[in-house]
Amino acid sequence: MITTDLELVINSLKRGEIVSIPTETVYGLAGNALKEESVDLIFNLKKRPAFNPLIVHIPDVNFLDRVAENIPDPAKLLANHFWPGPLTLILKKKASIPNRVTAGKDTVAVRVPNHPLTLELLKKLPFPLAAPSANPFGSISPTLAIHVYKYFGDKIPFILDGGSCKSGLESTIIGFENETPVLYRHGALALEKIKEVIGPVKELIKNDQNPQAPGMLSKHYAPQTETIRSENILETIANFPNKKIGVLSFQKIELSEEITHQEILSEKGHLEEAARNLYAALHRLDQLQLELIVVPYFPNHGLGKTINDRLQRAIQK
Ligand code: TXA
Ligand code: MG
Repeated sequence: MITTDLELVINSLKRGEIVSIPTETVYGLAGNALKEESVDLIFNLKKRPAFNPLIVHIPDVNFLDRVAENIPDPAKLLANHFWPGPLTLILKKKASIPNRVTAGKDTVAVRVPNHPLTLELLKKLPFPLAAPSANPFGSISPTLAIHVYKYFGDKIPFILDGGSCKSGLESTIIGFENETPVLYRHGALALEKIKEVIGPVKELIKNDQNPQAPGMLSKHYAPQTETIRSENILETIANFPNKKIGVLSFQKIELSEEITHQEILSEKGHLEEAARNLYAALHRLDQLQLELIVVPYFPNHGLGKTINDRLQRAIQK
């Protein structure tokens, strides 16, 4: 059931159930992070491989000491600067965090989400929330309550409706090798902004065999419809004259009349706006029974990097 009643959601979580919560990035599939049975339910619902750990959501930076220890200085700087916000930190875990949450790793992923309803929820709960994005493993992340409902229906009792996610891309993930900051996943917080606060950040190379952060698995965030990327959308369309094609474009482009489905992410060409609209546009295109979705390359800076990363994963088989 889609609801805005916080009390219903609080009681459900206290019973150990799984609910969906809004965040500024994407909707999450949340349960009591300290209760193994709840964490198991999340993995089962999402059909997520057990090796892929979850993010623990906390109400504020003061809660950090209850989930993590030996926190490096740059992590403290980042937490104070960007929380609540779309930044996840990978830190040494406290023993109280079940191994199931961290997939047996001795590190835990933590963030303070920036959504008023969910912050209020977290403040009223006596435990933190483990929450992956609220999509089945490998599918496009949800940015509206109705996306979550389409994926999970009544398999979860409540979807807390917080409207449309204002960032629209998952959080950026930063870990540490000793004290050196490492980027694990591009996300809604541009890497440039992080570097302004802590200086250089090492970028991890993608590795499918042993993913440090399985958001790094190459196939992820993918529509069901065949999707290809193109440097020149008009040329690409011309190569598939008999196909029913949908186009995702950054700004408006003039298309021939046969192409009736164009999703424009930002008329004015703003990357933040494009990021916010990306997943909802992919969800819509994916429901049109098209034979092909053509997507462009975005400018490779700021959030354009994250969008390019997600589109690249969307096309991999
Ligand atoms: O914006 C977000 O981060 C959303 C909202 C709901 O907070 N959550 C999200 O969760 O995107 P999920 O589970 O779809 O992605 C979490 C990523 C995964 O790629 C996982 O592998 C990585 O975080 N991760 C979690 N714990 C980790 C750890 N201890 N070490 C390395 N990577 C970790
Ligand atoms: Mg996800």
